[in-house]
Amino acid sequence: MANTITSEADRADQGLGYAVNGPYYDVIFPESVRVSLTDALGRLVSGARAVAEIGPGTGVFTEALLTSLGPDGEIFAIEPTRIMRAALVTRLSRIPAAADTVTVLPEDALTAEVGIPLDAVVLFNLIMHFSPEQRVRLWLKWAGGLRPGGLLIMESQHPQTATAVPPSVIPGGMLGRHRYDTLARADIVGEDLIRWVMTYRTWRDDELIREETAEFDCHVVSDETLAAELSAVGLERHPAAPEGIQAWRRPKAL
Ligand SMILES: C[S@@+](CC[C@H](N)C(=O)[O-])C[C@H]1O[C@@H](n2cnc3c(N)ncnc32)[C@H](O)[C@@H]1O
Repeated sequence: MANTITSEADRADQGLGYAVNGPYYDVIFPESVRVSLTDALGRLVSGARAVAEIGPGTGVFTEALLTSLGPDGEIFAIEPTRIMRAALVTRLSRIPAAADTVTVLPEDALTAEVGIPLDAVVLFNLIMHFSPEQRVRLWLKWAGGLRPGGLLIMESQHPQTATAVPPSVIPGGMLGRHRYDTLARADIVGEDLIRWVMTYRTWRDDELIREETAEFDCHVVSDETLAAELSAVGLERHPAAPEGIQAWRRPKAL
């Protein structure tokens, strides 16, 4: 498969990665993760005026962010992968509050420009796509885009070290007569690089009627590495980040 120098947007255009994952995304997204990350956003971005969400995918958390904004708040949703952006725009077009609030940008995280100081930058289920060298640019760009007191928000990564993850089934939801789940495993493919192999399965009763597999090469980023990288761009740890959440603040004096 392509290595991570090729962007996920390009891989999807070749029918790989998110091109396979996209049609299943919402129905296989784990409900417990949706609830805990939504709760974290509610606590950390309540009343925000300007938020950038990088890699919003189909918009699961864009929709949640809409309920946390302050009056006149706005969101920049930065999604370079065409199939995910299609789902995002479709979702947003059905939400009246999004019409004058969410700007969708098709650029990627390293090239998108929002042009105003941000209260928060949200990067959920995303940072594994960036190499160490790309993360240096990512952090410099978006730490610099925060207003004093603004936050970078992401989840702690799993696994924390480059270890193989044995296969397990992640239950999904139902649509009509079909039930969905994901068989997931990770293999070690390099230094601090693992390959997630995700098989999206469609069941009718107990019969497996379809399975499609997507692979993603993912950089392993431990909490320790993240702390070193974010401290290096002048951010400080938020003292009350919810468990499992990495929230880093631009100091008032930076
Ligand atoms: C696992 S999905 C997460 C979607 C959403 N944040 C969520 O948690 O449901 C990762 C998303 O990041 C996007 N992505 C990958 N590389 C990106 C980049 N360089 N800049 C911005 N988004 C990127 C993908 O297109 C995909 O939609």
